[in-house]
Amino acid sequence: MCQACVKAKIESTLQSIFSQYPPTDDYLIMILNDVQEHFGYIPVYAQELIARHLHVSMAHVYGVITFYSRFSLKPKGKYIISVCMGTACFVKGSKTLMDGLCQKLNIKPGQTTPDGLFSIDEVRCVGACGLAPVFMVNDEVYGKADATMVSTTIDAIRAKEKESAHAE
Ligand code: FES
Repeated sequence: MCQACVKAKIESTLQSIFSQYPPTDDYLIMILNDVQEHFGYIPVYAQELIARHLHVSMAHVYGVITFYSRFSLKPKGKYIISVCMGTACFVKGSKTLMDGLCQKLNIKPGQTTPDGLFSIDEVRCVGACGLAPVFMVNDEVYGKADATMVSTTIDAIRAKEKESAHAE
């Protein structure tokens, strides 16, 4: 998509998000949530538009984005694999899980695979300590996990993606 088309798309999306909230700083987080959900990250141009719309500085918008881990400045993969590094999971081996995942995808936490399919995230307790160690694929929780389960899950996703690519 051309640069101007990308900007136009961001503008029209932001206009429709802005129309849902009063234009004050109190609604910054809600607006950022919607933008994150729509694009999978917060594009720089969206940050500019938000700052202008709410009459706040870009530094303020940037500060809020970087404060909350749910906001991302870079596009994330279609599948976000989050490994819980909370205490219960850590004690039960989530470090080994994470190492296996990084090795399998050849990326580090916070990075995305070059094909845009997977990102790796670290999360703190997701409230499923009884199933420790836990990892998630987007919103789906996998408990009592080990490196083999992570590897099998990734293989299954890749196979599914390949299949749907062939079907198109
Ligand atoms: S510490 Fe991992 S789910 Fe609670």
